[in-house]
Amino acid sequence: MIDPDVVSANAVDPENRPDFKAATSLTVLGIETSCDETAAAVVRLDADGTPHILSDVIRSQADEHAAFGGVVPEIAARAHISVLDRIVAAALEEAGVTFETIDAVAATAGPGLIGGVIVGLMTAKAAALAANRPLIAVNHLEGHALTARLSDDVAFPYLLLLVSGGHTQFLLVEGVGAYRRLGSTIDDALGEAFDKTAKLLGLAYPGGPAVEAAAATGDARRFPLPRPMLDRPGIDLSFAGLKTAVRTAAHRAAPLDAQAVSDLCASFQASVSAVIGEKSRRALEVFVKAHPDVAPVLVVAGGVAANSEIREKLDTVTRTAGARLVAPPHRLCTDNAAMIAWAGIERMRAAADNGETVDDRDVSPRPRWPLDANAAGMIGSGRKGAKA
Ligand code: KG4
Ligand code: ZN
Repeated sequence: MIDPDVVSANAVDPENRPDFKAATSLTVLGIETSCDETAAAVVRLDADGTPHILSDVIRSQADEHAAFGGVVPEIAARAHISVLDRIVAAALEEAGVTFETIDAVAATAGPGLIGGVIVGLMTAKAAALAANRPLIAVNHLEGHALTARLSDDVAFPYLLLLVSGGHTQFLLVEGVGAYRRLGSTIDDALGEAFDKTAKLLGLAYPGGPAVEAAAATGDARRFPLPRPMLDRPGIDLSFAGLKTAVRTAAHRAAPLDAQAVSDLCASFQASVSAVIGEKSRRALEVFVKAHPDVAPVLVVAGGVAANSEIREKLDTVTRTAGARLVAPPHRLCTDNAAMIAWAGIERMRAAADNGETVDDRDVSPRPRWPLDANAAGMIGSGRKGAKA
């Protein structure tokens, strides 16, 4: 039970509460620790509505996890603890601000690996309490969903395809806090499928870039692989069966020489590009039906968006549909804290428009936190227990 007296005692002192409506600008510290990047950033929104990333510090733990071919939650949480204070200090210093001159602290409160989320959110709560600033608990997916407004000033509504190591979903983004999930993977995330394919073929981690490099010299027709869920209506996706099909083909062709590995990678990449392309086409159709008067925009985010074949496919699909493709810079598409600070700013701005303020100090860390609370649960939900 939450004791209301304790909550109100913890709330921001009303005398010192920043008046967002009258504020000339908003400066927010963002903290991100939900997977294997420890990140802190400061973003400022000018009074004229122009955003500035004042600092964007990221420390990747990829080297710590490489030997295991995937992220190990316990190692991730410990690594966040050991560096987060210095990452935050660096972000403040680089931005030329202090806890006294920022307006709020925003941190990822989920979904993600719970140990890491606890480290980031508790650090943010402590900082917000000490500085007497509001805390904004941000949904990591909301950070990804709103990034295109920070980088490209995209107006609502738009369609988002989020494809990373932890998430694969289509979202209709209609406003701050207004997200409709149109489709999602029912098992593995696409980045996870790239990573597992790389692992079983003996390629390096993270697997996406390694598979793409090998595919460049491969023949996509040598190993016919399934194109999962294409024969079914709807926008949901599935990649677990495809990964098994790669394994079966690899066993049949064993021992694999370098050319066979390249051919398998090329076939895998062709299959996922075809699936992503067709599902994007269908998602755009749904968007146009929902918003017939809006010029359709497809925003693509997440590490897998770096893949050239997938990018080309999305380019073709959007051009054919008369839509615009927006891909924020790679550094903002993968996990970072600028998107968390920005989501905090968006939440504060939206609240101020309604004459409200935001302070989430009583929010608990959440390993699972769907953006669209109305969407039905999936059978599986991507990487188990991680960023699903
Ligand atoms: O967004 P991200 O950096 O972190 C997560 O939130 O997961 O995405 C990482 C994922 C990894 O699974 C990685 O293999 C994949 O993105 N990835 C790629 C490429 N570059 C990174 N997948 C396919 N092709 C690439 N070029
Ligand atoms: Zn992410």
